[in-house]
Order: sequence, then C-alpha cells, then structure tokens
Amino acid sequence: MEALAVYGGSPSCASSSSLFRSSAADRRRSKNSLSHNLNLRFNHHSLAAFHSPSHLFSRSPSRPHTLKKTHIFLPHLIASMEQVEETYVMVKPDGVQRGLVGEVISRFEKKGFKLTALKLFQCPKELAEEHYKDLKSKSFFPKLINYITSGPVVCMAWEGVGVVASARKLIGATNPLQAEPGTIRGDLAVQMGRNVVHGSDSPENGKREIDLWFKEGELCEWTPAQAPWLVE
Ligand code: RTP
Ligand code: MG
Repeated sequence: MEALAVYGGSPSCASSSSLFRSSAADRRRSKNSLSHNLNLRFNHHSLAAFHSPSHLFSRSPSRPHTLKKTHIFLPHLIASMEQVEETYVMVKPDGVQRGLVGEVISRFEKKGFKLTALKLFQCPKELAEEHYKDLKSKSFFPKLINYITSGPVVCMAWEGVGVVASARKLIGATNPLQAEPGTIRGDLAVQMGRNVVHGSDSPENGKREIDLWFKEGELCEWTPAQAPWLVE
C-alpha cells in the first residue's frame, strides 16, 4: 500500500486510507436544450462541501467531465488504475416488470463497481428520443421509444476503472440470443426488443447520459468500505 502514496500526486493522498476516500466531483453540468425543453432542473453549483482527496473511483474535482489521469510510477499499477470512468446503466421496463432490478444491480455490485446514483423513473418520450437520438433514422426507432416509455425504468450511474467496457461485457450482446451465457442478456432475455438493460457505449456517452438522466443532487460521492479489498 505504501507504493500507492504517489497516486494522484498530492500530499493529501499519502496515506493508504485516504486513497480510497471519496472526492467531490464538481458536477458543473452544461445546460442542454433537452433540459430546457423538459423543464428539468439541472443544478450547476459545485459540491464544494464534499471536497476531499482524489481516489480510485472518482474524477478530479478540478477537471469536471475529464477522465482522471493518475501519476503512478509502478509499471504494474499503471494499466489497472489509469482510467476512472462513469457509465449509465438502466434496467428497461421489461426488467422492472419481471422483477430483475435486484439481479442487475447485484451483478454490478459483485463485480466491484461503485453505484453513484439510483432511481425508479417513468421516462418521458422526449427524454427517450434524446437518449437514443443516434438511432433516430432506424426503422425500429418508434418501437424502441414505445418500449422504453412503456413503464418505469431504473436509472443508475456506476463508476470505476474501465467501467464502460466492462458494463457492456456484463450486459452482453444487443440480441439476447447471441449474448454469451453469464451475461445479463444471455441469461435473462430472448429478444432484442426486450433485452432488459442498457449500458453506455463509450465514456463520452456515459457522461452525456448521466447528465441527461440525473440532476446534480441525485449523484452521491462516497467511498465503498470494500475499496482496499478490490484494488491493492
Ligand atoms: P442499449 O443502447 O439499449 O444498451 O443497446 P445496445 O447498445 O446493445 O444496442 P443499440 O444498437 O444501441 O440499440 C438500442 C436498443 O434498440 C433496440 N434494438 N432493436 N433491429 C432491432 O429491432 C433493434 N435493434 C436495436 C434494442 O432494445 C437495443 O438495446
Ligand atoms: Mg446502445
């Protein structure tokens, strides 16, 4: 653990316990047109009261929406600790109706990622259209919007090293019949139009989607007690 004292390059990070303490992400959200259209109350105040040293999960408070670049001088640590990301995961209406919310959350918890936001939410049509705007030209788009707005969804933000790609692996292929056993879709679904869960497809979309689905006060900065048992 002593070797980790160089992480973050700050004297305040020198003790091993502080490595895992939560830092405040300064979530200064830029207003987007959707938030105006939907009259969503995005708050832009800094969470200054929660400032604390950077750690293994959080982004730098001084660089909102920027992946944290760490300064680790031990080669075997660089690969595993460099990219702290956040991703948006959503249990779709079929997953909620089928009672799979706990199962989905459990898989991400057991993997070792940090939950930073969670809510049950009835998605308005405009938000669903904005979320899936890249698919607007697809023939299945109207069906997809009907699906996503057909009942409550469970919205989640997860944080951790490599969480975006790892979440996609845990979720599995878009078509559940092609998804590997062991993945959420591979184990729990049979059809593309009822594939239980969504996961952001890039770190950029992770940030975009978290901004889209959550207001600032809905995100929680905290330090999992298990952090030192997940990363040496
Ligand atoms: P998601 O965004 O929901 O996590 O799914 P994905 O990345 O695996 O797949 P994407 O291409 O982004 O498609 C979004 C959702 O649209 C539905 N879909 N239906 N040919 C079809 O009928 C079709 N293709 C896609 C699925 O519900 C998919 O998850
Ligand atoms: Mg997608």
